[in-house]
This record gives sequence, C-alpha cells and structure tokens, in this order.
Amino acid sequence: MTENTRKLLIVDDEPGIRRQLKWAFDGVDVQLAEDRKSAIAKQTENPSSVVLLDLGLPPNQDGPSEGLATLKAIMEKTPHVKVIVMTGQTERDYALKSIALGAYDFYAKPLDLDQVTLIVERAFRLYELEEENRRLQAEQQGTGALPGLLTNSPAMKEVCTSITRFARADVAVLIIGESGTGKELLARAVHSQSGRAEGPFVAINCAAIPENLLESELFGYEKGAFTGAHRTTPGKIEQASQGTLFLDEIGDLPMALQAKLLRFLQERMVERVGGRREIPVDIRVVSATNKDVETMVAEQSFREDLYFRLGEAVVSVPPLRERPEDKVLIAQNFLDSWLGEQGLPAMRFSANALAAISQFDWPGNVRELQNRVKRAAVSADDSLIETADLGLDAKQAAEATLYTLKEARQRAEAQAINNALLHADGNVTKAAKLLGVSRPTLYQLMREHHQKIEPSKDDVTAN
Ligand SMILES: Nc1ncnc2c1ncn2[C@@H]1O[C@H](COP(=O)(O)OP(=O)(O)OP(=O)(O)O)[C@@H](O)[C@H]1O
Ligand SMILES: [Mg+2]
Repeated sequence: MTENTRKLLIVDDEPGIRRQLKWAFDGVDVQLAEDRKSAIAKQTENPSSVVLLDLGLPPNQDGPSEGLATLKAIMEKTPHVKVIVMTGQTERDYALKSIALGAYDFYAKPLDLDQVTLIVERAFRLYELEEENRRLQAEQQGTGALPGLLTNSPAMKEVCTSITRFARADVAVLIIGESGTGKELLARAVHSQSGRAEGPFVAINCAAIPENLLESELFGYEKGAFTGAHRTTPGKIEQASQGTLFLDEIGDLPMALQAKLLRFLQERMVERVGGRREIPVDIRVVSATNKDVETMVAEQSFREDLYFRLGEAVVSVPPLRERPEDKVLIAQNFLDSWLGEQGLPAMRFSANALAAISQFDWPGNVRELQNRVKRAAVSADDSLIETADLGLDAKQAAEATLYTLKEARQRAEAQAINNALLHADGNVTKAAKLLGVSRPTLYQLMREHHQKIEPSKDDVTAN
C-alpha cells in the first residue's frame, strides 16, 4: 500500500486546529469534520483507516460525551479503524474510557505536530499490517487451506496439502500429534474434502469410554445381548455408513478390541454384540493419537498389523512451538471471533502481550492458547489485554530453568530482539537504538537468530 492511498479523518470543532492538522499531513488524503454528525457521515461515505478525534465536540465542548459517542459509532461502522483520541482535558479517565471503547491511542492537547504525525504514522502502519494479514487470510481461505484452520507455517501448510491429497484418495488416515495441535480439526477436514462429504462424520473417543462399553459402542448390539440391551442398536461403525468414522485416541484401544477392529478393517463387515449375522459397512476410517504408536508397536502394546491398516497414510502435526508463525495469528483471530460470538466489544493485545504469546512454548498447543486468550479477555480491566492477563510468566520461568546457560542466553537475546522490533513496529533503526547496538550489529544478530529481515522504507530514510 502506498502513502497516497492513506486516508485520514480529522474531527475537531476548532477550524484553526483542523487547518493546522490538514497542513501537517501533506500527501495524505485528509477529510475534515467538525461534529459527531459530519464525522459519522464522512466515515460512512468514504472510510478512513485512521481517525484523529477531539473529544470535546459541540454541543458539549466541555465534556467528552459527544466525542465518546462519535468514537462508538465509528468503531461500529468500521471496526478495524485506528482512532487516536485527542483530549483537551487532562483527565486520564476519558483516555482510558476511549481505549475501552476501542480507540487505538490517545493524545493530550496542546498539539505537538511532530508527536501527532508520529502517532498517526504508526497507526497507519499497524492498520496496513493488519489489513495485509486479513488479505492473506482471505486469500488462503480460498486456495487449498482447510476449513477453520489458520496457519502461516510452512510445515503446517504441508500438512494441509497432504490432508487434501489423502482425503480424495479414500485411504485410512492416521493423524499423530500432541494434545491440542488440531488433530480433530484435520480429521474433519479429511471428511469434508473427500467424496464422502455428504455422508455422516461420526467420532468416537476410545479413551473416554470404559473398555466394557467400547465394544458395543463401536459394533452395536442386538436386543437381549446383555442386561439393559432393551433394543437392537447399531454401533458407531454402522452409523458412519457412507461417511467417515473418526477413531480418536486410538492409542488407548484395548488389545481385545484392536483384534476386533482389525477384523472389521479387513473384511468390512460388522457383527453386533450378541448378533449372528455380518452386516457389510462402507466407511472411511480416520484415526488420531497423541501417543507414540511406533514405540507402542515395538513394545507390543499396539498391534503392528492394525497400525498399518489405520495408517495407510500417516500425518504428523507439528506442535505449536514449532510453528512460530501461527501463535499470534491464531491468538488474534481467536480473540476476535470469540468476542464476536459472545457479543462483546472488540479488544486487542498489548505489544508486550503479543511478544509473550510469540515467545511462550505452549505445551498444551492451540487448545491452551485458546483457553488463555479467553481467560485473559475476561480478566482484562479494559479493552487492552496485557501480558499479566495471560498468566504466563511463572510457567515460562519454570520452563526456562530447563535450558542450558548457552541456550538460555540465546533465547534471551532472540526475545530481546523480537521485543525491540515489535516495539519499533519493525523499524530496524529504532529497534537498534532501543537495544543499544548499532544497526549493522542488529542485522547481524537478526541473521544469527534467523529473523526475517525486511528493511522498511523508514529505515532507508533514517540512515
Ligand atoms: N490451525 C488452527 N487454526 C485455528 N484453530 C485451530 C487450529 N488448530 C487447532 N485449532 C482449534 O484448537 C482447538 C483444539 O484443536 P483439536 O481439538 O482439533 O486438537 P486435538 O489435537 O484433537 O486436541 P486433543 O489432543 O486435546 O484432543 C479446537 O478448538 C480447534 O478448532
Ligand atoms: Mg482431539
């Protein structure tokens, strides 16, 4: 996006200030408004990405009510807009209230044009970054990506490509990955991308059902097969007929049932418990486990022949800590969609909170990330989620002790660089200043830590 497409709306009742500000933003497409009505009209007709908003607007120049109402209306119409609130009053309350209503930043008058232009410039850059992110996501959604799955990780994109390919082939897919990595999401994708998408998707969790019930759950039972079997009931395998059966936590399947499941997979016939006839069933099986099945096979706690039947195609899902591109992406998207579902107003993460999210190892993977974001959203005082709200620090510290000193040093260095770059909006010159090193040194360090190096336009001019 180039500078000349940037649009800024300035809302102030004083003509002098409007003129001064318009003059300061040479090269930006500036619109001016003097009260709530004209501001909303301008933002509706030709939306700006950044708004400078004075809180004291007519007819209540001395209070914040008109400004806050304008802010609320603008956020509702254009939720991604970056609003910078200008307060004539020094009261912090209004500033905080504005942030709670979704404002990006606030600025206390009197005007210092240098400062205001800097804040506005940062707001534009953040808006453009987010816009680019949204665009990439929309694009990804249309091409090859799986429904409901967000990723920018090359490893995970490979997983998605394999899933799509296997889905069409009607082979048995075994999905292996740590808890919370998205195994069920991928299993559902196998179904929805397959020729059986119109058929049922039936899931059964082998770890959650007691051994003595699991057999009748899977294979069904005839009336009178055991006490309590009042009527003939088809099992999950039959229910999945013409569709997909998802066997979750397959590593917990008891030995006796492993033999019975194998027989079904070879013959494609089920015999209900207490039944005497075999019923042909046409299903596709997808299974998942967070256990190391290969070791289980070696230790003979999982049948090798069953392992090969279930894993005609095997997919390994990388844990979240090996997908640095995904942490913030999933956190931000989950926050937005969860708040939307709950009917709650928009919130955002502070730069420090984002840094913490990207540094944390997430042993519980996406599920843990979602839970912590939810809790943080509930516990935050206003619309800004801080690091403390995520409750990560103690855990992170406990984990840090597991590293060698050399690893710890390297991690700390990488984190400091990451933080500085986040604070400086990716501007290497500013980040170097924050870190107290020269720009070439920082480039060298970024190379060593495999950080993406994208010299920004600002960098070049700042030199
Ligand atoms: N890449 C992703 N993008 C968006 N949401 C995701 C992604 N991966 C996982 N999720 C979400 O995270 C949660 C956990 O995923 P899922 O249940 O598929 O994991 P799992 O590997 O089956 O976990 P468990 O081992 O705990 O059963 C779900 O709400 C899922 O929708
Ligand atoms: Mg699961």
